[in-house]
Amino acid sequence: MTLRFVHKDLVGIEGLARADVDRVLDLAERYFALSREPVRKASALRGKTVINLFYESSTRTRTSFEIAGKRLSADVINMNVSASSVSKGETLYVVVIRHQASGAAAYVAAQIGPSVVNAGDGLHEHPTQALLDAFTIRRAKGRLDGLVVTICGDITHSRVARSNVHLLKLFGCEIRVVGPRTLLPVGFEELGVTVTDRIDDALRGADVVMALRIQQERLLGGAMIPTTREYSKTYGIGLSRLALAKPDAIVMHPGPMNRGVEIDPLVADGNHSMVLEQVEAGVAVRMAVLDLLAGEASEA
Ligand code: NCD
Repeated sequence: MTLRFVHKDLVGIEGLARADVDRVLDLAERYFALSREPVRKASALRGKTVINLFYESSTRTRTSFEIAGKRLSADVINMNVSASSVSKGETLYVVVIRHQASGAAAYVAAQIGPSVVNAGDGLHEHPTQALLDAFTIRRAKGRLDGLVVTICGDITHSRVARSNVHLLKLFGCEIRVVGPRTLLPVGFEELGVTVTDRIDDALRGADVVMALRIQQERLLGGAMIPTTREYSKTYGIGLSRLALAKPDAIVMHPGPMNRGVEIDPLVADGNHSMVLEQVEAGVAVRMAVLDLLAGEASEA
């Protein structure tokens, strides 16, 4: 028996149960297989509209949601907005929202009847990214339980790190977050993760190494790291550093990558890298989320 996905919205991973995550990943597995078929269409969102409401620039995530909606036979409308009002309305649509303010998705979800999917709200959460990361890890490692996962870089400004921590905790992973002191958020230890500025210690024995983008646009005019060159020397994931992790470790990055800064091109394009797999997983996971919230799977 499969459990029902009882949520109206996907605002964050925080508050989800392990069974919810399994439900998304299992359905994503089916859509992943479908996406490799010659005809990649499903009918789960026929007659519905997915509105991509992006207040922040995004290429990868918006495109991924767009493809996901189209493969489920929804009509997809992209709105790149700097200011707009979301009107109350029929239940025949799903709103996918990215906004620079933490809490924006929860706010909209509370105002409207239709389902809301958070595609990144400020420094808060980016739940579909964590789900696609989990999907990628599960496929590569055969499980999520008990893995050692090192998340490296600009933790403070990363909604990806936050969502991943919430998700991986559900599976008893050992999570280490590492970066320069200026980019480590205060109080993160309370989430049950190891917080350190010692990269080599953090990498030793890791099953999964996740590099995060140095978010130049959020770095207060360069006050938080000396130079990108210095950063890459101290915290960049290169081949010799990667050798500290398990021999079969996988390397991930949510994109867009600053090649040569947080990740060496030899690692980004090397045989441990899962970056392309992550992109492919993104579509399947977003199909699963849209279906569970608003498609045929939400009625099953
Ligand atoms: C991430 C984001 O927007 O939070 N990227 C993404 O969704 N593709 C990470 C980032 O911007 O570095």
